[in-house]
Amino acid sequence: MKERNPTGGSPEKKAAGLAAAGLIKDGMVVGLGTGSTTAYTIAELGRRVDEGLDITAVVTSYQSEMLAIDAGITLTSLAEHPELDIAIDGADQIDTALNVIKGGGAAHTREKVVSFSAERFVIVADESKYSAQLDHYVPLEVLPYARELVSKFVRKIGGDPVLRLASRKDGPVISDNGNFIIDVSFGVIEDPAAISALLSRGAGIVEHGIFTNVDEVYIGKMDGSVEILRS
Ligand code: A5P
Repeated sequence: MKERNPTGGSPEKKAAGLAAAGLIKDGMVVGLGTGSTTAYTIAELGRRVDEGLDITAVVTSYQSEMLAIDAGITLTSLAEHPELDIAIDGADQIDTALNVIKGGGAAHTREKVVSFSAERFVIVADESKYSAQLDHYVPLEVLPYARELVSKFVRKIGGDPVLRLASRKDGPVISDNGNFIIDVSFGVIEDPAAISALLSRGAGIVEHGIFTNVDEVYIGKMDGSVEILRS
């Protein structure tokens, strides 16, 4: 197995990613998240698979698929395994009630499907992601056909929408599902469940990045320790 150093990785992310990998036991069907923190989890699981760990995994993106294949982890699909034992994923921001904003990597739609398929949903992050309240922009995966309707809708509910543009391609970011991403700033989100419910009602919004179904959060610290928070 190749050694990898994920882009955007850090010792804090590594501590969290490795600690959560310790939750995985023989025979489990595991949801593998996307991003630089879960990349450490995937690499660690690959190392343990080399030593005989027997697991099957479902990925949340082309990124996690490539990392998992590279790590030698056997993959399956939600069609074959609709019930996962656990899903481990990263976050863009986490509040004290363990509401989470995801989708900085445009993978939140599949991440949400995988998280709702799992018996236990664990977030891994460095401590910079932890905040008293959520004020990070909320990514929306949007049907390209509906982008103007969605922008109008989010303005009406108090958001400021920005179409996410690609950095090494002209034009918009295209998600793994072939859709656009609109990042919406709401300022401080006083009631994440209410905004989540509103966004779920918007026509043309495939999925939004507010997650209110987190069971545990593993927070990696500068000193290498990991704090575990439970909902
Ligand atoms: C993918 O769209 C996101 O939800 C990621 O899970 C999140 O951005 C991960 O952040 P890190 O790269 O900091 O782990």
